[in-house]
Amino acid sequence: MSQLKTLSHLDSIPSSPGKFKPDKPSFQIHRLRLHSSLLSRLAFWSLLFLTLMAFLFLLSPPSSPSSSSFSQPRRNLGSGASWGGREWEKRLRKSAAPRSNPGRTVLVTGAAGFVGSHVSLSLRRRGDGVVGLDNFDSYYDPGLKRARQNLLSRSGVFIVEGDINDRELLKKLFDVVPFTHVMHLAAQAGVRYAMENPSSYIHSNIAGFVNLLEACKSANPQPAIIWASSSSVYGLNSKVPFSEKDRTDQPASLYAATKKAGEEIAHTYNHIHGLSITGLRFFTVYGPWGRPDMAYFFFTKNILKGKQITIYEGPDHSSVARDFTYIDDIVKGCLGALDTAKKSTGSGGKKKGAAQFRIFNLGNTSPVPVTELVRILEKLLKVKAKKKLLPLPRNGDVKFTHANISLAHSELRYEPKTDLEAGLKKFVKWYISYYNNGSKKSSFR
Ligand SMILES: NC(=O)c1ccc[n+]([C@@H]2O[C@H](COP(=O)([O-])OP(=O)(O)OC[C@H]3O[C@@H](n4cnc5c(N)ncnc54)[C@H](O)[C@@H]3O)[C@@H](O)[C@H]2O)c1
Repeated sequence: MSQLKTLSHLDSIPSSPGKFKPDKPSFQIHRLRLHSSLLSRLAFWSLLFLTLMAFLFLLSPPSSPSSSSFSQPRRNLGSGASWGGREWEKRLRKSAAPRSNPGRTVLVTGAAGFVGSHVSLSLRRRGDGVVGLDNFDSYYDPGLKRARQNLLSRSGVFIVEGDINDRELLKKLFDVVPFTHVMHLAAQAGVRYAMENPSSYIHSNIAGFVNLLEACKSANPQPAIIWASSSSVYGLNSKVPFSEKDRTDQPASLYAATKKAGEEIAHTYNHIHGLSITGLRFFTVYGPWGRPDMAYFFFTKNILKGKQITIYEGPDHSSVARDFTYIDDIVKGCLGALDTAKKSTGSGGKKKGAAQFRIFNLGNTSPVPVTELVRILEKLLKVKAKKKLLPLPRNGDVKFTHANISLAHSELRYEPKTDLEAGLKKFVKWYISYYNNGSKKSSFR
């Protein structure tokens, strides 16, 4: 009430001195005063308006960054990263230029991530043009992402720093480079973190994916899209091994739900816009340059530090098992999917005919209990783990994963070759080299 009173009091204060005084001055004087008062008020507001417009103009990005190839670099992320400008475009084109014939030009999202960095490097090594895109988020140590970026940079792969939700950036990328393929690996990964930060899954796995599909739909030519779904879509499915035909409508985590949503969204873009889309359901990928949030990684860290590790058990002390799949096998599956992807059929956002739509399991098809994973790590690290056994909490993890890979085998010639012990041996070698000697001495192979 008192606030209202204060406001009404303010309203009654004259906005300029010498304002209209009805009783004394003559008509002429009154008009003159009125005019000068109006003029000064007009001048004041015009000046204010112009200052405001100039300020807004200086703050705003160019309305269409694609309209000029000489657009100035602009700040894009809070991290201080920028994109745009002549030098930036030059780096983009150089990275995108294929070295082999016929050349593919691939946009790899999540290129600073675990799978993305390996895939980018393999594509580049065989001669494809590769441009990476990553927002270097801090879900896990961004230093590890920067180290992967440095290695890729030495191999000629430029990673653009930006978010897949940035519409202008995506438009610009497709304006500068006629990508033939998009390998979409950017995502908010991890099952348990969804309890802490659910919106990050919506941001990257749903909103970001739709934004990317929109950019692909409008691009000319439309690229073929290969993207990472996840074995987690099988959720509570208990029929093993998991086949692509099995039900995927019982997700056990928000992460799984966003991947499942991604599969449905992908279908609509294929159906409406003629985008060729291949979804790959990865099963627990591990290996050198891996993700610190995954069990094999933090078990290694904690065993070496003499810290206790928690191993989860199913009902009646049954073991939790995973179809651990070595990174090199996953990379081969990704490249197989890319090489067999047919062209998108749409143009200018309009579908011209039916386009390819596929989903494949990429696993190792040999599940291993987590207790066995720990036993192998103990052997390789030559340290006995301090173990604590706890019942599997209901925070998104499932008890068992096992891939049926016959479809990927017949259509992509996918044939995983690395067993868990051989793969972990390579991981441990990398881990010790990376954390003891520093990132500069560690290579991808
Ligand atoms: N590693 C596995 O075991 C596994 C299993 C199943 C599915 N997947 C899927 O495979 C893909 C790659 O996984 P990974 O293990 O390499 O994970 P990762 O976290 O190492 O890589 C993902 C990368 O995407 C980036 N990113 C996240 N959100 C982004 C955004 N909005 N814009 C731009 N960049 C963004 C991150 O910075 C990160 O570098 C993901 O889609 C993941 O969900 C992985």
